[in-house]
Amino acid sequence: MNILGISCFYHDAAAALLVDGQLIAASEEERFSRKKHDAEFPKLAIQFCLEQAGIGIQDVDYIVFYEKPFVKFERILTTALQSVPRSWKVFGDAMTTWMLDKLWVKNIIRAELGVPNDKILFSEHHLSHAASTFLCSPFDEAAILTVDGVGEWACATFGRGRGTDVSLLREIRFPHSVGLLYSAFTAFLGFEVNEGEYKVMGMAPYGEPRYVDKVQKLYKVERDGSLWLDMSYFCFHHSTTRTFNGKFVELFGEPRDPDWNFFTASSGYPEYYGDKPADFEHRCERNQFYADVAASIQHCTEEIVLAMARALHNETGLDKLCMAGGVALNSVANGRIVKETPFKELFVQPAAGDGGGALGAALFAQHCVLGKPRSFRMEHAYWGKSYRDDEIVDYLRGANITHTRCANEDQMLDRVVDHLRSGHVIGWFQDRFEWGPRALGARSIIADPGRADMKDIVNTKIKFREPFRPFAPSVIVDAAERYFELETPEKHYPARFMLFVVDVKPGQGDVLPAITHVDNTARLQTVHRDQSPLYYGLIERFGQASGVPVVLNTSFNLKGEPIVSTPAQAHSTFMRSGMDALVLGNTIVTKG
Ligand SMILES: [Fe+2]
Repeated sequence: MNILGISCFYHDAAAALLVDGQLIAASEEERFSRKKHDAEFPKLAIQFCLEQAGIGIQDVDYIVFYEKPFVKFERILTTALQSVPRSWKVFGDAMTTWMLDKLWVKNIIRAELGVPNDKILFSEHHLSHAASTFLCSPFDEAAILTVDGVGEWACATFGRGRGTDVSLLREIRFPHSVGLLYSAFTAFLGFEVNEGEYKVMGMAPYGEPRYVDKVQKLYKVERDGSLWLDMSYFCFHHSTTRTFNGKFVELFGEPRDPDWNFFTASSGYPEYYGDKPADFEHRCERNQFYADVAASIQHCTEEIVLAMARALHNETGLDKLCMAGGVALNSVANGRIVKETPFKELFVQPAAGDGGGALGAALFAQHCVLGKPRSFRMEHAYWGKSYRDDEIVDYLRGANITHTRCANEDQMLDRVVDHLRSGHVIGWFQDRFEWGPRALGARSIIADPGRADMKDIVNTKIKFREPFRPFAPSVIVDAAERYFELETPEKHYPARFMLFVVDVKPGQGDVLPAITHVDNTARLQTVHRDQSPLYYGLIERFGQASGVPVVLNTSFNLKGEPIVSTPAQAHSTFMRSGMDALVLGNTIVTKG
């Protein structure tokens, strides 16, 4: 039984292929098309999935789309009609794009893939999210919480899973969305919606949550976890370009100018920002205000998600929780769920956002529609394309790139450890690339986290990104408790997928200065020998040499570009950055 799941036409198009219930391949389209957050029909990702399984489209039994376009269109039309005449533009845009394109998803799938109608199924947006987490979790029974911007009508659902059954018990409907509330602040703070949410999370620890009372004017949470937004502050329900309105600005002041660099007295002023502006002090003060706003919305979001989780625990009495939806990528909130609610274990799969809907749609068909027993567990995130050593070397030779082939893995690891110990920044390209937005040691940039200057070096030479964004540590799972406040780290799946923020243990922040955030936390990745033997081996060996089995890990891409997929993209990124060495399989490329 071959089942292909597809998500697209909103953001992060993706495909995932199950063969007899086992995930064979999954990828976001952006990794192939090289358009960040590509939302178009995921032609290339589908082609890759089929190639990986060695089958053709005619061998696929069902193609499952992750949401119901007609229901979503109904929501957009109904909402637009409720706020006429303010929403004429939304109405017009919706009619054009939906009538031309999105509504006819079945026709598009049939035309693109040449498959008959009876092979095409549809799931629902939040059901796909729920299936994408519970049905590949290690749990036989668990509560399920999905929280995002919006699907068809639902913005959050409360459910439970048992065996192959996924039941959504109730939902919070548009426009009362914690995801859209967070996005309104993302826009207010000068970042791009659906892209800059991580920046808000990174900025928050530089501020104090001084404006919680103001943020709380915008919403109300009931005891059962229901959320109500005061829509008089927002305009995302009747505008395609703006999320908040004049009343919001009256409450919080002018939005942050997106062209202003962000820095505060405590973040420092990186040299790649150029000369200090004449009004430096004034800008520091303004940015401090915006950091305080970021801290306030982050705090309120965490409180809302915690309230939802507590209510769901009350309702179900279960002690395991599965989460999905864009808000489940808020790794700070995830860390607090395990610490502060009665839930003892949390599962989040690496593509918790809409890309993961492709996996959820396929799992939904396999288990909920066809009733097949569960046999797959998401133990790792390496479901993308890989390149063999001979393909890598053929590429390097063909492009006339000087390289050194190590005799074996052992020798390669020794050399990489030497580079790390010399303070070098390394492009690390190994095996199949990751599913979801995080780089987890297959397409990563790595460095020594013990050097105080490493964060600035990586930011200045490679990432050119805002100084407030933290870098993450990859730690071998057996050593995680030595450095981080995380008991029984092997149990926590979100930590495998870098979806968990925890405190750094007292005193260890000085040992790991480059990955310890300003509030003494870290978004750690625990690395397991059985799932990532090579990456584990590298960190272990680095630990033997340095005394600390932890590396700094950031995604292998330049600012604004998707993470690299191919050896050619890796090399091009290497050459356009200040990285010192590039490791592709057992082959090493250096500069000069
Ligand atoms: Fe979603």
